[in-house]
Amino acid sequence: MKSSYTDNNYGELIEALVRVYQPQTCVELGCLEGYSSVHIARGLKRNGFGTLAIIDLFEDYAFNSSEQTVLQKNLAQYEVEAYCEIIKGSAFDEANRFANQSVDFLHADISNDGERLQQIFNVWSAKLSAGAVILLEGGSKERDTIEWMTRFKKKPIREFYETPAFKDHFEHFVFDPFPSITICKKRA
Ligand SMILES: C[S@@+](CC[C@H](N)C(=O)[O-])C[C@H]1O[C@@H](n2cnc3c(N)ncnc32)[C@H](O)[C@@H]1O
Repeated sequence: MKSSYTDNNYGELIEALVRVYQPQTCVELGCLEGYSSVHIARGLKRNGFGTLAIIDLFEDYAFNSSEQTVLQKNLAQYEVEAYCEIIKGSAFDEANRFANQSVDFLHADISNDGERLQQIFNVWSAKLSAGAVILLEGGSKERDTIEWMTRFKKKPIREFYETPAFKDHFEHFVFDPFPSITICKKRA
């Protein structure tokens, strides 16, 4: 499966977090071909319970996207489709499907930048349960200065981490190897 996470085996880290935190309700924003989805769902399967809602625009996203059928094929190949619900739609509009404080594990990977993360947290913070775990693609200095972030003058992700909306409510740790991944925990 094509994914920027494969080089550093971040899938193993994602699966390990699902095993340790034992979430009931997981949501993923942005799946591409399903590399991260498969690892979240594998963790759920090994836990023996839990669900993963996978939200993606698929063919409606003009840039780096994949087809829904590719995701379905990969979930089936790894025998985790029973744990997954696929929702074709916007990461922002589909949040209203979830009750407040109902999401235990959120993975956000939708061409993240600082402003995009601010928008995600505006919509999803209230949906998170106390102690929820949030994984965010990016967070390193190197990721904040890649070509498209600089060319389009995107707000650095690390600037978002300095805002009260984030730092007053979440602990976080960044794994630096590119593209980097941030593990956050909502304070109880
Ligand atoms: C970098 S890829 C996700 C990579 C994936 N998590 C992995 O493990 O390789 C970004 C995905 O976000 C989706 N996307 C971008 N903007 C979105 C939005 N506003 N709502 C839902 N999905 C979005 C794209 O269609 C694409 O599949």
